[in-house]
Amino acid sequence: MKRYLTLISLTLLAGIATATELPTTPNGISLIKGYASWQIIAPSYRPDKDHLRVVLGNDVAVQAMTRGTRPFPDGAVMAKVAWTVRKHPSFPVAVEPDKFVQVEFMIKDAKKYAATGGWGFARFVGPELKPYGKDAGFVQECFGCHTPVKGNDYVFTHRPAYPE
Ligand code: HEC
Repeated sequence: MKRYLTLISLTLLAGIATATELPTTPNGISLIKGYASWQIIAPSYRPDKDHLRVVLGNDVAVQAMTRGTRPFPDGAVMAKVAWTVRKHPSFPVAVEPDKFVQVEFMIKDAKKYAATGGWGFARFVGPELKPYGKDAGFVQECFGCHTPVKGNDYVFTHRPAYPE
């Protein structure tokens, strides 16, 4: 019995250790593992920074994007991933993603994040996924720049045409 209990507590401890290992931003948002297998909503390119980005969404976000539902329902999450670019080694007039820059998240929970338009903001920088922000106030930077698109529930990205 004792051995059995020890085994249970070890398993629990291992669980807690894994949970705390996830990088977490000062406003308490942890990296969402598995974002890389979400659906693509749209790519974007920022010429001044020379970054290629892709905006991905979980099922709730993708459905809201497809149907044009605004405001986004609770549970919608979008991720924006950015890479530097390089000339394609086999076809130099084309560019392709090179080094990972960062991943950002917007998590919809109208009550919890009421102060920032119902969105929880988080950014993880570099391959080591370092949480961004000295303190929880960093979200003002995100929210501030997203405010011009308040009319689209603070979301810049539009779903482009995907004829099929
Ligand atoms: C200087 C302006 C600016 C700031 C600051 C900013 N964003 Fe954005 N964000 C954008 C733009 C513009 C887009 C549209 C995609 C693109 O052009 O890369 C975007 C897109 C996004 C998206 C995809 C959903 C959408 O709105 O299109 C997420 C997620 C996101 N940003 C998270 C964040 C987080 C988290 C922060 C703060 C750590 C942040 N952003 C700060 C300008 C900004």
